[in-house]
Amino acid sequence: MGIGLSAFSSALAEIYYFKPQTLTVSLMFLAIISYIIGTAMHTFIPQRGVFNWLNPHPFNKKENAFVIIMASAAANAALATEVLAVQRLYYDVNPSAAASIPLLFSSQLLGYGIGGLMRSVLVYPSKMFYPSILPLISMLDTFFRDRTATQRKIQVFWSVFSIIFVWELFPEWIFPLLTGFSIFCLAAPNSPAVSRLFGGSNGNEGLGFLSICFDWLYISALNPFTVPLKALISALFGYILCIAVFIAVFYGNVWKARNFPFLSQVLFYENATLYDQSLIMGANYQVDPQLVAEQGLPYYASTWVIYLIATNLALAATVTHLLIWNHNDLRAAWTWLSPASFQHTWNEIHWRFWKYDGHHGGVDDNDDLDPHYAQMLKYPDAPNSWYGLTAVLSLIVAFVIIYKCDSTLPWWGLVIALLLATVFILFVVALYAMTGIPLSIQTFVQMVAGYLHRGKPMANMYFVLYSYNTMNQAQLLLRDLKIAQYVKLPPRAAFAAQVIGTLFGATMNFVLMSSIISNRHDTLLSIQGSNVWSGQQVQQYNSQAIAWGGLSSELFSIGSRYHWVPLSYIVGLFVPIPFWLVHRYWPKLQTDLVYTPLICAFIGTLAAGVNASALSFFIVGFASQWWLRTRHPRWFQKYNYIVAAALDGGTQVMTFILSFAVFGAAGHIHLFPSWWGANQAGNYDHCMLLQ
Ligand SMILES: *[C@@H]1O[C@H](CO)[C@@H](O)[C@H](O)[C@H]1NC(C)=O
Repeated sequence: MGIGLSAFSSALAEIYYFKPQTLTVSLMFLAIISYIIGTAMHTFIPQRGVFNWLNPHPFNKKENAFVIIMASAAANAALATEVLAVQRLYYDVNPSAAASIPLLFSSQLLGYGIGGLMRSVLVYPSKMFYPSILPLISMLDTFFRDRTATQRKIQVFWSVFSIIFVWELFPEWIFPLLTGFSIFCLAAPNSPAVSRLFGGSNGNEGLGFLSICFDWLYISALNPFTVPLKALISALFGYILCIAVFIAVFYGNVWKARNFPFLSQVLFYENATLYDQSLIMGANYQVDPQLVAEQGLPYYASTWVIYLIATNLALAATVTHLLIWNHNDLRAAWTWLSPASFQHTWNEIHWRFWKYDGHHGGVDDNDDLDPHYAQMLKYPDAPNSWYGLTAVLSLIVAFVIIYKCDSTLPWWGLVIALLLATVFILFVVALYAMTGIPLSIQTFVQMVAGYLHRGKPMANMYFVLYSYNTMNQAQLLLRDLKIAQYVKLPPRAAFAAQVIGTLFGATMNFVLMSSIISNRHDTLLSIQGSNVWSGQQVQQYNSQAIAWGGLSSELFSIGSRYHWVPLSYIVGLFVPIPFWLVHRYWPKLQTDLVYTPLICAFIGTLAAGVNASALSFFIVGFASQWWLRTRHPRWFQKYNYIVAAALDGGTQVMTFILSFAVFGAAGHIHLFPSWWGANQAGNYDHCMLLQ
């Protein structure tokens, strides 16, 4: 089942990378599907004779978790295939399969190795509780516990599941006005200002202020039932600041904001025509400064610049915040780097690992041992040396491969990429583990790479691959290791599931990418594409690389137009300090409740996408984490996470079906006929269509 679902999810993810529609295979979807298939297999495979070997006992929680973890490791389009696709389509560089597959393996596994070495800090402690997976855990608990004890919870689960399943038909297809119901838009459908502030039912429309969203798909992008109250409050502050700053920047015409669309993620000429990145590419796959001078320096929409600033502030603030508030929790993370630890690890490598009975190194026996982790101690651990070996092998391969794949990234660039990744794995993943809110380091590392490797888009892509992707993989796999800890899946089984899932998924990715590119080369290169295939995402990725690789220093150096973007990184380092000082001297003010990194990150939160969901997100979040938790704690304890799981599950299964039935995943798009509630010609909330 694990292999089957891994094949399914990785193939789907890769195919959809080359399609005009997007489709993601979510964790909850995989969980529900695997539960259904697993129970069905137990029911239908006979249990007598030889079959008893295939079907020895009812499908259980650990088996289910194993399948989920394996498929989850496979369920994405590996960033390396995107890099290879750009190389093949736009640079006519064709690394062989013998170079490409190791590239994929190393870039997918490096983060796993490094992250794994930090698991005693990022997974074992109770503090790192990964709120976003609690609904899943609650669901597995309910499914697999003794039926009589959980009957009521099961009933609640399937009722909520069915209701939301049917409901999603409305906001997603029949009645999309419900995505963003805004009185202001309905009252003033012809005002650009109203559209910018209140519109939010369509991508890049407006800020969706006071708009009410009834579509769980958007509300649950970060599941509000799970984000802890502290994090919610900080996010709310950041969100309000975001609206104020975006409006101020646009109407104050900062960076010529009013020349360009309010929300946009692309580059423009000063006259708001789209910037053509291909015109600045010179020979040798490098950006030519003379051509840049001819074309002039491009502009971003100002709200996007604010997003970049907010991201940098947040990343820097994360480092300081964790250092001053959580230094004790983090100290252990670096112990594996000490010489004594290397000695220890070396001694610990059990060359005849099949005979090794396993013991748990690295954690002290202390009183506040996480209860879930305490129960894991009865299983042999997957030793540090396994993770270490994974990291070292990937590293060696990476150093060879960047030259074999004509990446133009020198070895020292790779070293810096990995150092950045390692630092951010510790800090950003720790923040994610405590708050459930992920930060992206993508734009930050793109900028760094742009400075280090001027004018080299391809080096930029490889740098991002080995820093951003490494961190992402670490985050994904550490989260899944926590799933293993919650359901008490033995550590070695979890290790096997993740490594097999990752390698198998990467191979599937590569096979599909190669075959799609050789068969659809011309379609993918055309701007329009067809309605079945489209090179739009590859193209975007390529232009991003050219923009950052070629223009970082021109756009962002001190004295240039956007110099606050890198400077905000320095400012961000100081942001958490006042709150810490205030807390030291006036603890009654409770400034220890403030997550400055989240406030900073949320200042950029509305820069892209469908924004109508924010109000609903905060309402549900506060209702769950504050009202239910304090006023009805028993109800909260029993039902909060199972309801969250049911809502996610029902929504995701319906969205999956809809994407094939009506959103063109199978080739043809069938939008609902236009009516008041489905304004197909404009914005769904009837706010003015700008641009
Ligand atoms: C905007 O400027 C660019 C570059 O100077 C030029 O190529 C383009 O035609 C202009 N567009 C309009 C609409 O004037």
